[in-house]
Amino acid sequence: MSDSRPIGVFDSGLGGLTVAREIFRLMPGEKIIYLGDTARCPYGGRSEETIKTFGIQDARLLTDYDVKLLVVACNTVSAVALDLIAASCKDVPVIGVVIPGSRAAARRTAVRKVGVIGTAATIRAGAYTRAIQGFDAAIKVYGKACPLFVPLVEEGLLDHEITRHAVQYYLAEVLDSGVDCIILGCTHYPLLMQTIQEMVGTRTQLLDSALWTAREVFEILKSLNGLAAGKTGGFSESRFLVTDYTPHFKDLASLFLGAEIPSIEQISLEKLTKPCSTVPAAA
Ligand code: DGL
Repeated sequence: MSDSRPIGVFDSGLGGLTVAREIFRLMPGEKIIYLGDTARCPYGGRSEETIKTFGIQDARLLTDYDVKLLVVACNTVSAVALDLIAASCKDVPVIGVVIPGSRAAARRTAVRKVGVIGTAATIRAGAYTRAIQGFDAAIKVYGKACPLFVPLVEEGLLDHEITRHAVQYYLAEVLDSGVDCIILGCTHYPLLMQTIQEMVGTRTQLLDSALWTAREVFEILKSLNGLAAGKTGGFSESRFLVTDYTPHFKDLASLFLGAEIPSIEQISLEKLTKPCSTVPAAA
């Protein structure tokens, strides 16, 4: 059996295309409907309540497209609102990026010390700590918010002196705690992989939650007999929706996706924010 319906993937902005990229790499026959809430991005410095409200709105829009699986590619939303979103989208399996990255880290750390870097809201929510310790309660988790990394990536300063200073500034404390694995707990950070690796050295593993999430998507679809039958064409048949558009987005999107993005469609923010009686109140 197979399922040709698309996978829904959403993020606060374009960074979640790093997750889409890994899904396409692993499952080239899959189609994706991607939503980037670029009008309201970034989410990472916002309150829990706002992140919950936005996350539910994003999820609800994608379920209108008859998706077979919903991937919350945004670490911030996954850390703050995954349970709420899963409860509000009962007919569609929902997965976030926190559990797959945490499972990989719990399996890999030899010294049972793991670092997690992400937005302020992601680190504050403590979801990575709970998830990692859910796999092994003896693991110590050292979280560090790195709010400058998102704008540095969006400015394209991937291999730049300013970025190296920022990496040094944020990661010194995490490294001093003796971790041997660091989870890149934000959609944007895979693009800083090389710069961060140079600073932390080869004995510290960097775990890209996007990659582990794509593997989990594959496993879930396989177990549900829900993989698409075709082997090619998914990428060109996919749709990429944003709530705000500037000419810079095409380049930025291609950077995250690792390939030229076919086209970007703008939808109105009102489509997301329209009241809906089935959405539970953000707790
Ligand atoms: N997509 C967000 C995340 O993965 C980063 C950008 C934002 O702050 O909205 O946490």
